[in-house]
Amino acid sequence: MDIQKQIEQLEPWFHNIHLPDGTVTAPNHFLGDFPGFKWEKIQAEIPQDLKGWNVLDIGCNAGFYAIELAKRGAEVLAIDLDEHYLKQGRWTAKQFGLEHKIKFKQMQVYDLAQQPEKYDLIWFMGVFYHLRYPLLALDILSQKANGMMVFQTLSLPNSEEQDIPEDVAFHDREILQSKSWPSMSFIEHKLAGDPTNWWVPNHQGILSMLSSCGFRVTATPEDETYIAIKDKTLQSSMETWNYSEFLSATGKPWSEEVLLKTKK
Ligand SMILES: C[S@@+](CC[C@H](N)C(=O)[O-])C[C@H]1O[C@@H](n2cnc3c(N)ncnc32)[C@H](O)[C@@H]1O
Repeated sequence: MDIQKQIEQLEPWFHNIHLPDGTVTAPNHFLGDFPGFKWEKIQAEIPQDLKGWNVLDIGCNAGFYAIELAKRGAEVLAIDLDEHYLKQGRWTAKQFGLEHKIKFKQMQVYDLAQQPEKYDLIWFMGVFYHLRYPLLALDILSQKANGMMVFQTLSLPNSEEQDIPEDVAFHDREILQSKSWPSMSFIEHKLAGDPTNWWVPNHQGILSMLSSCGFRVTATPEDETYIAIKDKTLQSSMETWNYSEFLSATGKPWSEEVLLKTKK
């Protein structure tokens, strides 16, 4: 069967992937040549040679990023909850002869808490705002990160930053309403017709949440995209008094002993 027919059989596509023979998977994408135009702005921040790198692509969709990273030599675990996209990913990787470099697996981001592996690069684009438990996901990824994370989320149109005080006095809570205070808007119903969009953070909210989970932002090469590294000098909240909460939320046993050891 010719390639065009196979593309049609795998519709609908969210990734417009330019295949080696010149055909494309989603030429009429509502965002244009997506996500190619994003990759063009990000790619210089990623090492050209990823040989020996263990990469995790979360919400891999049809595998655009997994393929670009595998082309640079990485071994990629590409996860998504949607089997339709995973099928596209397996097929697309084959078109590039990269099926031996990318393992596609149906998984929720939270399932990673049950796995021992760590990753040199975590690719976490376009998923955060779809999660009902976004900080739990970031705390889990903090445990999985060996180095770098590329993070992207839908965000509020406000790029203001501020220094976050160590403490906010009980009667000084109006500061929490300032424009640059870390915040996330909750979407009770739908955003852009999509009921899976739950949260839209502002820029300072993204920086602060990443920092609270042990990630330091080193670059923002693209609107809404953050390059972060795991920074051991930043205490992630689960190394402190919150550890028992993390254990409980990820289905692991916790005890009074853990509570006492990590008391605030
Ligand atoms: C907006 S798309 C982003 C695709 C790709 N990462 C990108 O940036 O182009 C969101 C993807 O994340 C997947 N997804 C949503 N929630 C997820 C979850 N809890 N765990 C794993 N994948 C998820 C969806 O099935 C979809 O493929």
